[in-house]
Amino acid sequence: YPTEPDAPHADVAVIGGSGLYALLDDAREHVVNTPYGLPSDPITIARIGDRSVAFLPRHGKDHRYPPHKIPYRANLWALRSIGVRQILAPCAVGGLRPELGPGTFVVPDQLIDRTSGRAQTFYDQGAVHVSFADPYCPAGRALVLAEAEGQQLSPVGDGTMVVVEGPRFSTRAESRWFTAIGGTVVNMTGHPEAVLARELELCYTSIALVTDLDAGVESGEGVTMEEVFRVFRENTDRLRTLLLTVLPQLPEHRDCPCATALSGITLPFELP
Ligand code: ADE
Repeated sequence: YPTEPDAPHADVAVIGGSGLYALLDDAREHVVNTPYGLPSDPITIARIGDRSVAFLPRHGKDHRYPPHKIPYRANLWALRSIGVRQILAPCAVGGLRPELGPGTFVVPDQLIDRTSGRAQTFYDQGAVHVSFADPYCPAGRALVLAEAEGQQLSPVGDGTMVVVEGPRFSTRAESRWFTAIGGTVVNMTGHPEAVLARELELCYTSIALVTDLDAGVESGEGVTMEEVFRVFRENTDRLRTLLLTVLPQLPEHRDCPCATALSGITLPFELP
């Protein structure tokens, strides 16, 4: 791997969430294989300005992978293997606070893992323990926030993303508990994506679009899938503009801690 004769290359990437299955016009598709199998779909690559940009739909183009079945390790490994070092990761989230209504953009700075049973490391041998105190790239977050402000998106500049196993939505009691322990938004795909990026020294910036108020906050029928997809669809244009303007501005030379997350650690194998 890469499996193609003219090896594909990209510097930066977007992993698109529910409702964002394509981003780039004039993009070529590349099948990229990995030791962890195939990623969710072929990776499309196009140029934006002088950057080469990759796009990978997290759930597959036809949404065939539910959150707990996404090949997270293959996705991150594949992106690293074609040269990607910085990732923007939009996703749909539920709001855990009443003021975070549908359509709100949140750029989280913290994460609470409530998933279970997902492969969440590349390092099943050796002593590789990455720091994950600050799970998201500070440079990516600052850039996304500044652009989102400039585009009048009124982004929320920090917040804690609770990641549940799913695929069901949470009970009202679980949801109220997530709020009580400091959660801001809740979703099903933010983990292990963020930690796998860190384990490959990739910058990872989550862009959370609130599609609904979670069950502990709203008093109606609870969250429905229909609502999640409809609100994401209604905001796709704003999200796409944000991504396309941030991507070419991601720093070419990284001086954030993500770039050296593995320094001083003996790896059991070479990174792609
Ligand atoms: N994704 C979007 N809305 C969600 C919610 N309320 N809970 C979990 N994942 C979500």
